[in-house]
Amino acid sequence: MSMELPKRKVALSAAQPTGQLTIGNLFGAIQNWVPLQERYNTIFCVVDLHALTVRQDPQQLRKHILELAAIYLAAGVDPEQSVVFIQSQVHQHAELAWILSTFAQLGELERMTQFKDKAQRHRHNVNAGLFTYPVLMAADILLYGAHVVPVGEDQKQHLELTRDIAIRFNNAFGPVFQVPDPLIQSQGAERVRDLQNPAKKMSKSAESELSKVMLLDDASTVLKKFKKAVTDSLGEIRFDEINQAGVTNLLTIWCAATGKTREEALHHFSHNLYGKLKVETAEAVNVVLDPIRNRYRELMNDPGELERILHKGAEQARERAEHTLVSVMEVLGLPVAHRKVSSRG
Ligand code: TRP
Repeated sequence: MSMELPKRKVALSAAQPTGQLTIGNLFGAIQNWVPLQERYNTIFCVVDLHALTVRQDPQQLRKHILELAAIYLAAGVDPEQSVVFIQSQVHQHAELAWILSTFAQLGELERMTQFKDKAQRHRHNVNAGLFTYPVLMAADILLYGAHVVPVGEDQKQHLELTRDIAIRFNNAFGPVFQVPDPLIQSQGAERVRDLQNPAKKMSKSAESELSKVMLLDDASTVLKKFKKAVTDSLGEIRFDEINQAGVTNLLTIWCAATGKTREEALHHFSHNLYGKLKVETAEAVNVVLDPIRNRYRELMNDPGELERILHKGAEQARERAEHTLVSVMEVLGLPVAHRKVSSRG
């Protein structure tokens, strides 16, 4: 008699290929994906179709898609353990998104704060895709039966909508979709702030280079940026987001980079020397970034290998996605006989 291992739950996440990533993206998202590979059946996607909701330069987009995939791998996503793929290579995403759009209400989509935000910032291009963006995200998640979706605080509302769509569909047509739970990423690591203006989240679109630390900045640039980070004149090293946002940010980054707790950080920096805090934070970040920069360079120098990994990932993704899509089509009464895989197979 063979003993079957309990089937692992599915964890899925994704990021948009909209340019160079900062350490905020690493500590807030990608780095937290890596340990999930031990416990979950993991899927990581580069959501290039989402990126189209804002006008992209084709050459840049092409480059950014591959770079983001290489960053996933360089940061420790293992293609032997995880499915890693590019969204547009799996046509089922667009197909399911259409179907799900008929299960999302205008009123719900209008309430999405990210839509309201982006509509403000891109007034000249408030396209329908920007509006239905969360429906495509729901398709990304529901196609793979994801149980958990690691996301930042800012995506919670989209995940709530995904759940509502899944529940609504299941109530009408039977239990086709797994209803996913958000996995809000741990201990404030996503709260990496702008080094020059810690009132703001660190963003790749910040104007000043000194505001943000990019994943691919070299070690001396990282050091320089941390040395110039804004602090205060209180001369105390404590976690206090209100009065000492700059110092708190450095502590948060140090914790994220070293894996140490807040208590350990306070103990370590009880000398209250800002100069040391800055340099040690830079050094801790460089310890994390060094191997990532190296593996990234290797991957980018070997495009054949990257292609092979993404090709395999897309094949694996397509098979699973097709299975779900066929189930959806069947319960809705759409013909599926012409499709290669049958859900009943
Ligand atoms: N909307 C997410 C973001 O901006 C990206 C995303 C798209 C995503 N599809 C997803 C995240 C599916 C998790 C799961 O960060």
